[in-house]
Amino acid sequence: MLAAIKRHLRADDTLLDFGCATGTWSLAVAGDVREVQGLDVSGKMIEAAQNKAAKHPARNVRFRQGSLFDPVYNAVSVDVIMSLSVLHLLDDLPGMMDRMSRLLTPSGRLISNTPCLGQKRSLLSLLMRGIRKTGIVPHLNLLSSRDIEQLVTDAGLSIVENHMWPDGALFVVAQKSS
Ligand SMILES: C[S@@+](CC[C@H](N)C(=O)[O-])C[C@H]1O[C@@H](n2cnc3c(N)ncnc32)[C@H](O)[C@@H]1O
Repeated sequence: MLAAIKRHLRADDTLLDFGCATGTWSLAVAGDVREVQGLDVSGKMIEAAQNKAAKHPARNVRFRQGSLFDPVYNAVSVDVIMSLSVLHLLDDLPGMMDRMSRLLTPSGRLISNTPCLGQKRSLLSLLMRGIRKTGIVPHLNLLSSRDIEQLVTDAGLSIVENHMWPDGALFVVAQKSS
């Protein structure tokens, strides 16, 4: 997936890794862009990401705990938003997609990878339906590939790459429509 991501990055991009967790992907793409901002709602994840970054040679990566709606993020300010294994966890997904679209610059790109837990006839989807009923995870979207494509286009983004990995996750790259 790293190679697929890198094909859509430019040396002068500012990239926001939304839901960065411990920063593995943020650091993996740091050499391909001008600046990486890793964002996660979890303070423990951000602490781990900062510790990892301190031992990494990249000096263009910053991590912060917070929300996509924090005023620190201004409209039309980010060239790339990377959202890997996050969309299925978000409450108010249409609102989040709209926010991401607004933050992107005119030629900005959303790079996402999302497990399709709502895909029909999948064993994983049956398991996830069970897990959702237990309430172990605070929020879980059982999305199909069609749901994800619709959410992306409804947010005003045009899909430029779209394929399903063997593990049932959908990789989508979408560009802000001018
Ligand atoms: C499954 S992990 C994926 C981590 C990483 N992107 C990866 O692919 O390895 C999902 C991460 O998204 C974060 N997350 C969930 N909802 C979030 C939100 N509303 N805002 C920011 N981060 C969020 C979680 O704390 C978690 O670290």
